[in-house]
Amino acid sequence: MNTEILNPSKETYEKCALVIKEGGLVAFPTETVYGLGANALNGAAVKKIYEAKGRPQDNPIIVHVAERGEISDYAEISQIAKKLMEAFMPGPITLVLKRSGRICPEVSYGLDTVGIRIPLNPIARDFIKECRLPIAAPSANSSTRPSPTEAAHVLEDLGGKIPYIIDGGRCQIGIESTVVDATGNTPVILRLGKITPGMIRSVCGDVRISFEQPDKPASPGTKYIHYTPACECALIDSHEPKFIEQVVRAEVEKGRKVSLLCFSQFEMEGASVYLLGNDNFEAASNLFYLLRLAEKNSDIIFIEAAMGRGEFADSLLNRMIKSAGGNVITEP
Ligand code: TXA
Ligand code: MG
Repeated sequence: MNTEILNPSKETYEKCALVIKEGGLVAFPTETVYGLGANALNGAAVKKIYEAKGRPQDNPIIVHVAERGEISDYAEISQIAKKLMEAFMPGPITLVLKRSGRICPEVSYGLDTVGIRIPLNPIARDFIKECRLPIAAPSANSSTRPSPTEAAHVLEDLGGKIPYIIDGGRCQIGIESTVVDATGNTPVILRLGKITPGMIRSVCGDVRISFEQPDKPASPGTKYIHYTPACECALIDSHEPKFIEQVVRAEVEKGRKVSLLCFSQFEMEGASVYLLGNDNFEAASNLFYLLRLAEKNSDIIFIEAAMGRGEFADSLLNRMIKSAGGNVITEP
């Protein structure tokens, strides 16, 4: 199959909506990362997503809709969900709700819940509106690869497997949506993102976080099989220039090709230095892009840890630790 990259236009949306209606796959931009979409009412179409990505079938897929009013067609809206919808949708948040209605079981095998998201990106919403269907879409990368933040990344991973990629340029946020279980009386964050625990608490009065602790990066690891570049990768949990330099230098001296993703312009002979950005938001929007750039010319990539701790810093740190496969270097 030939994969075409299309500029967003009415004609593109019509062409791509036809593919979706016929049970095919289309990749499209969102404000977080690119998604790989299929008709969420069609089990055979959703199965193609798992095949194209090489994704384990017990990992549920998020359903994307264009308007808040559509959510009640597919899920039960709890009191908590109502508040979160009003505050943050459309936006980079996914609500896990009790499923009702017609979403096919392949979207969340074995679960009685479904994750629902309304993207903020107008290209995503116009495309979904044109489909007149709920769109099941995980990130449009091969399973375990860094999430795609440009059309070229999707082509790299899924070229030949899907007919169309809608090109929306670089994704603004660059890390995936915050996933919140809104089925109970207290919202529970299942994945950190742009919408932070503090933002959710300010709307709901309370919040819990349910996953590995982002501020205890020491555990190395087998359970981290997300977002990894094609070469070795490690997180440097320090902002001390001398220490960072020492870590990088040691690898350069072994004759290895070394890249450093960092927050300040280091002069580092023998290593390639990439600027993550001036703050954590810029760094998030550049992280996966830079990993995919640096891996092409590196034996090892070092990432300088997010600045500070708490709130959005933890969201960014979570992706950095996973990209590093749990390899975290701290000052002695
Ligand atoms: O920003 C995003 O969320 C992107 C864009 C394309 O919307 N999508 C994305 O999808 O990151 P994916 O498949 O890479 O991640 C979906 C996450 C997984 O961690 C999955 O376990 C969780 O959402 N999830 C989805 N449905 C769920 C459910 N019913 N219960 C619990 N977790 C769920
Ligand atoms: Mg993903």
